[in-house]
Amino acid sequence: MDSIQLNIKQVSDFLSEEDILKQSAQATACNQALHDGSRAGNDFLGWVTLPSSITEEVLREIEDAAAVLRTRCEAVVVVGIGGSYLGARAVIDALSDSFDWLQDKEARKNPVIVYAGNNISEDYLHELSGYLRNKEFGIINISKSGTTTEPALAFRLLKDQLENKVGKEEARKRIAAITDASRGALRSLATTEGYKTFVIPDNVGGRYSVLTPVGLLPIAVAGINIRKLVGGAVEIEKATGPSASFDYNLPAIYAVIRNELYKQGKKIEILVNYHPKLHFLAEWWKQLYGESEGKENGGIFPAAVDFTTDLHSMGQWIQEGERTIFETVISIREPNRKVEIPHDDRDLDGLNFLEGKRVDEVNKMAELGTRIAHVDGGVPNLLIVLPKLNEQFVGQLIYFFEKACGISGYLLDINPFDQPGVEAYKKNMFALLEKPGYEEATRVIKSRL
Ligand code: PA5
Repeated sequence: MDSIQLNIKQVSDFLSEEDILKQSAQATACNQALHDGSRAGNDFLGWVTLPSSITEEVLREIEDAAAVLRTRCEAVVVVGIGGSYLGARAVIDALSDSFDWLQDKEARKNPVIVYAGNNISEDYLHELSGYLRNKEFGIINISKSGTTTEPALAFRLLKDQLENKVGKEEARKRIAAITDASRGALRSLATTEGYKTFVIPDNVGGRYSVLTPVGLLPIAVAGINIRKLVGGAVEIEKATGPSASFDYNLPAIYAVIRNELYKQGKKIEILVNYHPKLHFLAEWWKQLYGESEGKENGGIFPAAVDFTTDLHSMGQWIQEGERTIFETVISIREPNRKVEIPHDDRDLDGLNFLEGKRVDEVNKMAELGTRIAHVDGGVPNLLIVLPKLNEQFVGQLIYFFEKACGISGYLLDINPFDQPGVEAYKKNMFALLEKPGYEEATRVIKSRL
């Protein structure tokens, strides 16, 4: 099987083989616990065998709903926040033509996918509404709880705009809702309005939900092959089953190394890419690890940079700032497109030494040179190589990171599947907005202002 690879050579200056191996039994036990449900958060382990349990029927239902939206809409708004949008955006950005959405309607291959409900910016919502004014658009509204303020607010505005534009009957055909099977305001709204709906399984948390309809419906609308994506995830699911040996269990090795580095004071992990298409993959990864591990006053701080862009902004800090950082680079072995550097007779820019080389060769040398410089500067380096940027390997990468996150959380002895801290801002916001039921909280917070 062609597969993503993990290269750990550039951590050898910082960790010995012994450091890694002494954790192997524990990591294997953590992996097993994810399968047998013997540790914290075991009511949220549906993602562990999710890829291999997606049925043909479910895939077809998602593809059919996507076909309806693709036929009727030139733009589709994905409404959701956190785990209810980052996975879809990560995959769509990684696997779409970066400029398709800027093409004229006739030249475009896929509907334009835009996002809402991931902020509460009045300017953003106003400008989005302006963009959609002359477009045939549809909406995918995603919220597991069905009660999250950001998407609920955006959906209220977008639904109103769509119904005023095309009427209630047509709007109903262009709206899909993805939410809990029975609970929450979105479920009752969708039932009352008669929308096409999909269920987010109870035992799959938001940040692990990209391979449920939460991610798969928007991804299919964007013209990406969800079968190959799921197929890639199945490959890593199978390779990392409960009896997988540590030596071949890449997520377990990654989890052990990052936790050993953390113990040595490497408190920040930066996920590095050399392709702008991977920016949102890193945003998805940040949420996955930040919400899973940032608990009980501990956990690695997950950050991300886009290179070489950010070498010209963050490069100095990474090279010579506080030595509390390590990096994980996502590298693409072979790009999907080919661009060669042309000859120039006058060579005024002095670049003829690159003549005939691929642009990717320059990128790869920047990547290699940076990795070596960072290791020399005291930044341990892990490397994840994708043979190509396609559905199969992105699917593999998704499951790799999910599995590693679960193992890593158990190595830290925390519950990686809850996020109690996220509620704090919501409580204050509702108190300040004087939401019914928050009277006492309103009184307390106002006394502090
Ligand atoms: O990972 C999580 O659980 C969160 O990030 C949620 O996905 C996010 O808060 C959105 O919640 P909901 O889908 O209930 O609207």
